[in-house]
Amino acid sequence: MMNRPALPPEIARRRTFAIISHPDAGKTTLTEKFLLFGGAIQMAGQVRAKGEARRTRSDFMKLEQDRGISVSASAMSFEYREFRYNLVDTPGHSDFSEDTYRTLTAVDAAIMVIDGAKGVESQTRKLFEVCRLRDLPILTFCNKMDRESRDTFEIIDEIQENLAIDVAPASWPIGMGRDFLGCYDMLHDRLELMDRADRNKVAESIKISGLDDPKLAEHVPADLLEKLKEEVEMARELLPTFDRQSFLEGHLTPIWFGSAINSFGVKELMDGIGEFGPEPEVFKSAERDVAPEEKKVAGFVFKVQANMDPKHRDRVAFVRLVSGHFTRGQKLLHVRSKKQMAVSNPVLFLAADRELAEEAWGGDIIGIPNHGQLRIGDALTEGEALRFTGIPSFAPELLQSVRATDPMKGKHLEKALMQFAEEGAAKVFKPAIGSGFIVGVVGALQFDVLASRIELEYGIPVRFEASQFTSARWVLGDKAAVEKLVNANKQHISYDHDGDVVFLTRLQWDIDRVERDYEGVTLSATKEMM
Ligand code: G4P
Repeated sequence: MMNRPALPPEIARRRTFAIISHPDAGKTTLTEKFLLFGGAIQMAGQVRAKGEARRTRSDFMKLEQDRGISVSASAMSFEYREFRYNLVDTPGHSDFSEDTYRTLTAVDAAIMVIDGAKGVESQTRKLFEVCRLRDLPILTFCNKMDRESRDTFEIIDEIQENLAIDVAPASWPIGMGRDFLGCYDMLHDRLELMDRADRNKVAESIKISGLDDPKLAEHVPADLLEKLKEEVEMARELLPTFDRQSFLEGHLTPIWFGSAINSFGVKELMDGIGEFGPEPEVFKSAERDVAPEEKKVAGFVFKVQANMDPKHRDRVAFVRLVSGHFTRGQKLLHVRSKKQMAVSNPVLFLAADRELAEEAWGGDIIGIPNHGQLRIGDALTEGEALRFTGIPSFAPELLQSVRATDPMKGKHLEKALMQFAEEGAAKVFKPAIGSGFIVGVVGALQFDVLASRIELEYGIPVRFEASQFTSARWVLGDKAAVEKLVNANKQHISYDHDGDVVFLTRLQWDIDRVERDYEGVTLSATKEMM
């Protein structure tokens, strides 16, 4: 991966990343400051509605109804210095982990935000593990240094031990809590001083020649300066130094200390992504590896957001462009249907506004409005039949049966459910015997969101009820063997929205039995979406 040719400048300047964190660590605040410095928003506070809305269930539902906000925040693009940043939002709630997983398949790096007082929390760890599956490079931002936080060495140790990754300090905090002054930039020998008076201002940066520079004493009180020198010396002796290769391979994470709310440390973090990358990566398809510098456009859908405008039933498919230079109006092959598609109104998301994308390059995220043709995992190319891999669908952990409270609406319910299944909002299984549907999700909150959306967007009141099943497995294997299993186990069989066979049960024992008794058949908890 490292000895690749230099990329065309337009592609090389792109940085496509996501932010992962435990709720409340400061993801929304950091996003807001990115956009502020990127010139995408005029005033901090505009993204805020989102962070707050997420906190309670009812607010969350309201947010879901207000599709405009959540969609424009799904992918945001902004320019800063010579770079184009594409920030893809990961849903904050742990119930939406599958969506998060797929989002992480579309980015080249992740920023891990941790709270300086709390360190590595449960959701941070889970999301980190997902990043590790792809060896995503990770930049760490230790937030809220303006509050009482843990000892710097302790924080670094905790990350190293908890997440088994090397941590190299990119900056070192000077004081903490009320005494927090700013940071010493370990990579550039600079002093960054926080401005407490103006929360939206970039920190003052003072170039110094090293820790012995007398200029330091003009800005840092003697006791803090002595502590800083001692700690930095110790850090240089004991902690890993930043190594770009190791970072790009996902073995080492640089850590910046800061305070998002005070806009402190944010610029350094943005500079870090710019300076160290990664540039748009090579993506794997079933056929071959696809490199960003390839002349022809290729990309894949990693997220579908439906019914942004309930009156129009439109959807936006979010596409990660993997390669090439796309221009508006270009015809692309929709590989699954083998049909050409003129992409005439692609959108770019600049903070709160949608804008038509006149052009986009490998690395970018564009939204393509459509009427349901585009599904998660679909590839778009200039003609080659590529199928991008590694975009899995997970077996749901909770199953419930659903029916319309008005039996006359059964047919409409099926349509609504299929649309949600295609959007990736839930798994929908149609049992081989009997009527009705079984809906599978990862977190219980999703049932509430679904019920509310089905009623709001389709006008169908529904009821979710306990199902006799607790597990779902996709049935893989050669046709004859699968058929044999289906015929002998009809009461366990259902079909997902693609028509693929799914085995439903409440006993692990059943799963073991099938795998033992039916040669050539496996029951899988994941399915590749392509
Ligand atoms: P999240 O998206 O990760 O859930 O976190 P969010 O940015 O919403 O931040 C969570 C809380 O932490 C917010 O406070 C926010 O103001 C605060 N916060 C973020 N960065 C910093 C920081 O650098 N220092 C300090 N001291 N606090 C920070 P809140 O009280 O929940 O909301 P609000 O009333 O302040 O908006």
